[in-house]
Amino acid sequence: MRIAMIGTGYVGLVSGACFADFGHHVTCVDKDASKIAALHRGEIPIFEPGLDALVAANVKAKRLEFTTDLAAPVAEADAVFIAVGTPSRRGDGHADLTYVYGAAREIAAAIKGFTVVVTKSTVPVGTGDEVERLIRETNPAVDVVVASNPEFLREGAAIRDFKFPDRIVVGTSDERGRKVLGDVYRPLSLNQAPVMYTARRTAELIKYAANAFLATKITFINEIADLSEKVGADVQEVARGIGLDNRIGSKFLHAGPGFGGSCFPKDTRALIKIAQDHDVQLRIVEAVLGVNDIRKRAMARKVANLSGGSLRGKTVAVLGLTFKPDTDDMREAPSIPLVTGLLDMGARVRAHDPVGMEQARKELPDIEYCDDAYECAKGADAMVVVTEWVQYRTLDLERLKADMKQPVVIDLRNIYRPEDMAAHGFAYDSVGRAPLPRT
Ligand code: UDX
Repeated sequence: MRIAMIGTGYVGLVSGACFADFGHHVTCVDKDASKIAALHRGEIPIFEPGLDALVAANVKAKRLEFTTDLAAPVAEADAVFIAVGTPSRRGDGHADLTYVYGAAREIAAAIKGFTVVVTKSTVPVGTGDEVERLIRETNPAVDVVVASNPEFLREGAAIRDFKFPDRIVVGTSDERGRKVLGDVYRPLSLNQAPVMYTARRTAELIKYAANAFLATKITFINEIADLSEKVGADVQEVARGIGLDNRIGSKFLHAGPGFGGSCFPKDTRALIKIAQDHDVQLRIVEAVLGVNDIRKRAMARKVANLSGGSLRGKTVAVLGLTFKPDTDDMREAPSIPLVTGLLDMGARVRAHDPVGMEQARKELPDIEYCDDAYECAKGADAMVVVTEWVQYRTLDLERLKADMKQPVVIDLRNIYRPEDMAAHGFAYDSVGRAPLPRT
């Protein structure tokens, strides 16, 4: 099959490389000439474990190409995927569809022969209808099916998620469209991934509903964590105890500093707007967003509390800045309101992140960046773990204690065991578990 992938952002690049790895011929198209030039040099513009090797192997096998010219690959393609950005529109939280509609018009002008145009970007319900209308308006003679095929991959685990998905959702009622997309994903039948065929609008809503549900699950356990701290329960055991019920499931029940990233905050906001446009109020999703925002801002207070109430003139070491491990992505990261809160309370902040410091400097220019976790903790009055990078799990606690001015650790990801922290003489607070106060 021949595939044109429009947009070499996160979803486009990962999907394009994986489709090529399935054996399809894929051309990734982007308007940004510097990005395409970098890809030609073998430089990957995003940090994603394994992606550089996957791209290199498929470029070498001549199954994966990059270009700024949309027309030629679209003319030859059996399927054209739209994977351009849909940022939150400034001011109102709606998804900004300028790039999607722009791509649709350009695709329409270039299509030759029967082609399936697929939206992979997360788009509001009804966008497929508008994409189809725009394509037919631009090129009335076109033989096209417009389908929705939302993507569920997670940053940091994107290739695995793409190759071993829980399900593939194909949204089109057209038999020819279903056949083409069935062929595109046929290699995944080896991994026994179920393909769910449904109507286009339903597929579009599945994506938002999935993200909103996961965001709700996280927010729910975060509130249970707050209660656990007050009543002397352990939220991790509560999560395990409820998660063993198959109806609930154990995943996405890790309490923490609140969700961030490029999808959950943006997509929950957009879903609320979609519902409002249809006179439906999604009270649960609205509450999730509100509770999560407040939570992220409240985390700095946790640091102050364990540090004796005031942070004025104190030095706080922050470990982990990205919104989660294995990515350099700082979008809506809990570290941003945390660090801002610490600075507002008069603290001096030193920080470390294994890959995110370059991105972090843009968001948080007024702090000191350190080469490693020990250097960061040196002389600090308190240390906060914000992102659960694997290297922070195995820090030498004795060395840390010797290097810090005060042995105070606030672990917002519950990566340490309270008994270990007690044994090493740390004052220790985590999420949803009883704190070990300063002695
Ligand atoms: C998410 C969805 O998982 C994915 O299906 C969708 O395609 C895009 O959005 P991503 O944003 O890459 O993926 O990261 P994810 O691993 O889902 O984490 C999102 C946020 O939730 C992070 O800030 C993470 O720390 C937080 N989280 C996740 C928790 O706080 N607790 C959990 O149990 C799980």
